[in-house]
Amino acid sequence: MLADDGPDRPWAEAWQDALYGEGGFYQRPEGPAGHFTTASHGSLGSVLAHALLAVAAERDCDAIVDLGAGRGELLTALRAADADVPLIGIDVIDRPKSLAPSIDWQSSPGGATVPATITGGHRRALVVANEWLDVVPCPIADVDEGGALREVAVDHEGRERLTGPLSEADRAWVERWWPLDDAVPGDRVEVGRPRDDAWACVLAAPGVAVALAIDYGHVRPLRPRLGTLAGYRDGALTAPIPDGRHDLTAHVAVDSLPQVERMTQRDALARWGPPTAQPPIELARTDPAAYLAAIGASSAAYNLRHGGTADFWWVLS
Ligand SMILES: C[S@@+](CC[C@H](N)C(=O)[O-])C[C@H]1O[C@@H](n2cnc3c(N)ncnc32)[C@H](O)[C@@H]1O
Repeated sequence: MLADDGPDRPWAEAWQDALYGEGGFYQRPEGPAGHFTTASHGSLGSVLAHALLAVAAERDCDAIVDLGAGRGELLTALRAADADVPLIGIDVIDRPKSLAPSIDWQSSPGGATVPATITGGHRRALVVANEWLDVVPCPIADVDEGGALREVAVDHEGRERLTGPLSEADRAWVERWWPLDDAVPGDRVEVGRPRDDAWACVLAAPGVAVALAIDYGHVRPLRPRLGTLAGYRDGALTAPIPDGRHDLTAHVAVDSLPQVERMTQRDALARWGPPTAQPPIELARTDPAAYLAAIGASSAAYNLRHGGTADFWWVLS
């Protein structure tokens, strides 16, 4: 269990401890897959792996780094799809026992901090961060009854209280990226500055040729007025409670990240993903096992391109 550090603290601090502190959510043995499913898992992971290998080939990359690798699910799918490409996983835990020996692993502090070197000496690595930035803690602020923006503090049970103003740097970020011109009391801002900074650190690491953040998010004209901070536990959406037993996640302001190109997952998979077309029916007669495998693969490809995560953003930097 996490230590109870007093009545309340700014959300970003409580969030960091709840996920990455001693006994934090992401240190738990069951890992993220014990609580929710992502595109790295199961048959979707295989589709994602094929698309990432296509990105890596197009950009002439010599290795793939999975930042925020969970328990290595996507790395395992990448290895199944390509026996040779150098693979490195980075997450807050020690190397998972199930990981193939040919996959390297590095431990990381968690949250906005990443190790200074992440590519294992490779000179043109593709760094992929699938659903990492949404769990990088960020300050939360609400508009008060007088129209002022005030930082929100939270206690161990998720009870919130408005405190003082945001730091100058956070206020500058809000002015630029989350304008509050027509805001009303109760409107909420999730300050993306720590995510932008974390992403800039990834880009600055030696040997990073391409970095790809894949996440749910929003852009300036469509910011969610009430914010998106939420909890997850045992597969269910919950209130955000920073007690180490719940995941804590908020959508990413994807337009403020340093980037060269941004597209939806739907468009990214149309460009790099495996085909969604079904195999010819004759195959069912000549090779039923191959037909079933091909049906499974095309359904997974279709799901990742058109299903629940199709609106995720792919931010290429
Ligand atoms: C929502 S999970 C996604 C896991 C995996 N990418 C997937 O697609 O299933 C976020 C992961 O990011 C990891 N993480 C958070 N901060 C990190 C950091 N600074 N360095 C490495 N991993 C981090 C967490 O421990 C967690 O495993």
